[in-house]
Amino acid sequence: MKKKSVLFVCLGNICRSPTAHAVFQKLINETESNDYIEVDSCGTGDWHIGHKPDERAISVAESNDFPMAHLRARQISKADFYKFDLILAMDKKNLIDIKKQCPIDFEGKIDLFLNYFPDSSLEEVPDPYFGSEKDFIFSLELIVKTSKYLIKSLINNKE
Ligand code: 4NP
Repeated sequence: MKKKSVLFVCLGNICRSPTAHAVFQKLINETESNDYIEVDSCGTGDWHIGHKPDERAISVAESNDFPMAHLRARQISKADFYKFDLILAMDKKNLIDIKKQCPIDFEGKIDLFLNYFPDSSLEEVPDPYFGSEKDFIFSLELIVKTSKYLIKSLINNKE
């Protein structure tokens, strides 16, 4: 069985994509899928390289039992397009920025994260960075719901 690797991408890699990383890692652990699913996250921007996730994102995630404070931000690199099977953008601007850097052969690996949430009228995970705690909670809930669909899809399509 070939290992499937998933990379979540947002702008800063301190709010949305590390939240998705933490949530997805917990789902991988709970479904005992560590042998065939792996996850990472990064940002398109370079402002927060090496930083911990935003304290508000950590607080909302960890109060819902998703360990996240150990993660450190990094920027997407060329090697990611070779390494990961699925590269999922949190919003459309992230998607455009990722595609600009992606070798043409690998464009099929890139998608919007919320395309995995069949019931959502939303296409993007709203950026909570300039928002309130309520916005961080909204992002987390959307990420949890979508991650459950995504892990089901990966488990059902295992080769
Ligand atoms: P993220 O949120 O892309 O979800 O990590 C942001 C983090 C930082 C900034 C913007 C969005 N910033 O402008 O520094």
